[in-house]
Amino acid sequence: MYDIHSHLLVGIDDGPATIEDALLLAEAAVLEGVTHSIITPHQHNGMWQNDKATVLKKFDELQKALQDVNSLLKIRPSQEIQIQSYFMDEFNRGEYLSLDESGKYYLIEFPWHGYPDYSEPYLQNLIDQGITPVIAHPERQRAFSENLPRLEKLIEMGCIAQLTATSLVEPRHQRALEASRKMIERDLIHVVASDAHHIIERPHNLVKAYDEIDRLYGVDKLDQFRTNAQAIYQGNKVKI
Ligand SMILES: [Fe+2]
Repeated sequence: MYDIHSHLLVGIDDGPATIEDALLLAEAAVLEGVTHSIITPHQHNGMWQNDKATVLKKFDELQKALQDVNSLLKIRPSQEIQIQSYFMDEFNRGEYLSLDESGKYYLIEFPWHGYPDYSEPYLQNLIDQGITPVIAHPERQRAFSENLPRLEKLIEMGCIAQLTATSLVEPRHQRALEASRKMIERDLIHVVASDAHHIIERPHNLVKAYDEIDRLYGVDKLDQFRTNAQAIYQGNKVKI
């Protein structure tokens, strides 16, 4: 199983605070059946600034710790990049880490309030460069959960969208649960990921979510989501 969105680096965002917590979270991923995980610390989300050099340094530390305990989890470094006015300048200077090695996919988070005017031109610019923006968890963001046509437009432009597993299986998050279902039913979701931060507070929930997708939408949808996660990791084309 491939996971394209997770927070596993130590002490640089709201992911694990200690290496012990990071190793527990990695082990939890393996127990869920995850073999390959893309590590996506926050960049520019208002609280957390993690530039490429910082991410790569902390990634090497985690990689070494995983090797020391013979973890079966394969990881690669990336970022969850919140779109800000300076996004395009930083992008064009090569300051961001893609999800895949070949630079075809970038994980883009929208701000938690509002919907900036520059969002669509910036994403169109990426698409024109042959890049597929992956919109992080639109079901959790009011800009999209209360305005599905807005997400539809981004998908028509050539973006794809990532649903967070917990949104589909956690009844406490009723708004996200309802939005998840509507978005999947309208084919606005292309991949599921854990966005895991902590083994108890924000666990992977991938097995539960995939079971729910199988139950509600059938094996073809399940296959599409699972295959797309692998395709993104490997830089291959996703199934729309
Ligand atoms: Fe995240």
